[in-house]
Amino acid sequence: MIIIRRMTENDLTEVKTLSVEENQIKYVGTTEEILQQSSDTNHFYVIQKNNSIIGFFIIDTTYNKKYSFAQEAELGLRAFLIDKNLQGKGLGKQAVMALIPYLKSAYKEWKSIVLTVNCKNSGAYRCYLSGGFIDIGDRYLEGPAGPQYIMRSSLK
Ligand SMILES: CC(C)(COP(=O)(O)OP(=O)(O)OC[C@H]1O[C@@H](n2cnc3c(N)ncnc32)[C@H](O)[C@@H]1OP(=O)(O)O)[C@@H](O)C(=O)NCCC(=O)NCCS
Repeated sequence: MIIIRRMTENDLTEVKTLSVEENQIKYVGTTEEILQQSSDTNHFYVIQKNNSIIGFFIIDTTYNKKYSFAQEAELGLRAFLIDKNLQGKGLGKQAVMALIPYLKSAYKEWKSIVLTVNCKNSGAYRCYLSGGFIDIGDRYLEGPAGPQYIMRSSLK
């Protein structure tokens, strides 16, 4: 069973062992770079299965201040990853499916969540789509690695 929970200090050693494939670093950065993004408004989460941490993501509560496509009372999802040794087994999709109900309960005052995903990152795009996100149709063109789809899920 997939569990989503806030990352704690005790998780740090295990989280540092997570990594993505070399050709995926352009989409999320390295784990080390991601961990440097710690702040009060970037909520770090771990994805856990059978007592092991298998993935990570950030809920950014200031995303809508940074991106014009983001709406009022909208969270941002960033740095979503499943460890490279465990990808392609349906775990990313299960994590997204668990994420939406979790956020509905943990962020009750927020209306929706949005993310961008590189148009070449078909695995991630499919993962979000099958996990419940909708492609809003617009593209975000200012990403460092090329055009990105914008995807959103209601939290209501
Ligand atoms: C994106 C990511 C989280 C997906 O996790 P995952 O566990 O590998 O994904 P799943 O096995 O649950 O697959 C989800 C869907 O994507 C598809 N998929 C997975 N890898 C794929 C690939 N390389 N190419 C095309 N489709 C792929 C699966 O077939 C599945 O589609 P379906 O629901 O239609 O059957 C993982 O690949 C990852 O960590 N990538 C690197 C970091 C990254 O790019 N994050 C996204 C930033 S926006």
